[in-house]
Amino acid sequence: MFLFLIFIINILLLLTSSSSSDLRPGFYSYTCPQAETIVKNVMKKALLREPRSLASVMRFQFHDCFVNGCDASMLLDDTPSMIGEKLALSNINSLRSYEVIDEVKEALEKACPGVVSCADIIIMASRDAVALTGGPEWEVRLGRLDSLTANQEDSNNIMPSPRANASTLINLFKKYNLSVKDLVALSGSHSIGKGRCFSIMFRLYNQSGSGKPDPAIDLGFRKELNKLCPLDVDQNVTGKLDSTPVVFDNQYFKDLVAGRGFLNSDQTLFTFPKTRGFVSLYSKDQTEFFKAFVEGMLKMGDLQSGRPGEVRRNCRVVNAHFLSQHKKMHNNDKSM
Ligand code: HEM
Ligand SMILES: *[C@@H]1O[C@H](CO)[C@@H](O)[C@H](O)[C@H]1NC(C)=O
Ligand SMILES: *[C@@H]1O[C@H](CO)[C@@H](O)[C@H](O)[C@H]1NC(C)=O
Ligand SMILES: *[C@@H]1O[C@H](CO)[C@@H](O)[C@H](O)[C@H]1NC(C)=O
Ligand SMILES: *[C@@H]1O[C@H](CO)[C@@H](O)[C@H](O)[C@H]1NC(C)=O
Repeated sequence: MFLFLIFIINILLLLTSSSSSDLRPGFYSYTCPQAETIVKNVMKKALLREPRSLASVMRFQFHDCFVNGCDASMLLDDTPSMIGEKLALSNINSLRSYEVIDEVKEALEKACPGVVSCADIIIMASRDAVALTGGPEWEVRLGRLDSLTANQEDSNNIMPSPRANASTLINLFKKYNLSVKDLVALSGSHSIGKGRCFSIMFRLYNQSGSGKPDPAIDLGFRKELNKLCPLDVDQNVTGKLDSTPVVFDNQYFKDLVAGRGFLNSDQTLFTFPKTRGFVSLYSKDQTEFFKAFVEGMLKMGDLQSGRPGEVRRNCRVVNAHFLSQHKKMHNNDKSM
């Protein structure tokens, strides 16, 4: 009787898994009960290997969910017939640590082949990245499907520039039903990780074409940044996004209040009246920041395109290609 019940529940799970709108906690509790532990263990290993990789993986959630929903489209490699998102303006020479997701996927495929989507891996791994670096932990809703395609142009058109000001960012987030509060809290993700000189050269030397630096930068901090990123620097050189880049805390907001934000899109949150109050609040109250951050991550994680999808076997390729490649390899084996 008990087995029969499990059987029925599994059928129900299979039936519902094709509709992506009903995300829920415990989605894999029957089909892959170890899923969340497996993800966390790989993230723990990544933390020991290179602490920054946790920030890099956490950033995936933003770049995935804003472009046609959380569907792992940004993990697809380019193919002769599809220009993917990896080389899009905001991603090229910038997104990194794709291999951490590969490692998670490999471990999950070993334990429960074909069950856990890459889109859900991004959501779980992002949650773990925050928790493992000192931030809050939360329960994630799961059951996403992976896209069948990716779109570089959409990414180019959507993802915000580091030059953006707060009113541009408010408008962008509003399109996703994300509030001003969500915007400020989610920007607190820059409590961990690094950015390139490339992303701040304009604000150091030619803010808005003025030929001058951004006046919102604290003078002492500007001197530090000028040293890190002189005019003739290799613009791939990186700097910390806040003064404690491997700890997820509210230091980012304290830095903004002090005029020590790295990106223009960060500092503008303190300059603009509509966002300033939240920056001040989070700089003084880490608990409020953590609460708002979790809310924002859950809302952002619920963004869905409603398009058809699948559970990819390899996060970099759609199953149709993956399987045909395997068949080819198999046929070659036979002919040898
Ligand atoms: C509000 C608009 C945002 C803008 C304009 C923005 C822009 C950027 C830029 C320019 C960088 C540095 C890239 C480079 O120089 O190579 C960066 C890094 C990062 N972003 Fe954002 N971001 C935004 C929001 C978010 C959100 C919502 C998240 C996640 C919830 C996020 C997570 C990160 C992380 C963790 C890094 C560091 C990555 C690493 O060290 O590899 N960002 N962001
Ligand atoms: C913010 O940036 C946008 C786009 O660059 C610009 O049109 C707008 O005038 C700026 N807003 C303010 C208040 O500076
Ligand atoms: C935002 O909310 C409105 C009203 O609830 C809904 O119609 C719309 O689809 C939502 N947009 C997104 C991107 O979720
Ligand atoms: C600053 O930017 C403006 C407008 O983009 C440009 O015309 C000017 O040449 C730049 N100045 C310098 C010193 O790069
Ligand atoms: C950064 O490095 C990449 C790859 O090595 C190179 O193609 C690119 O031109 C460099 N970017 C900048 C801004 O120097």
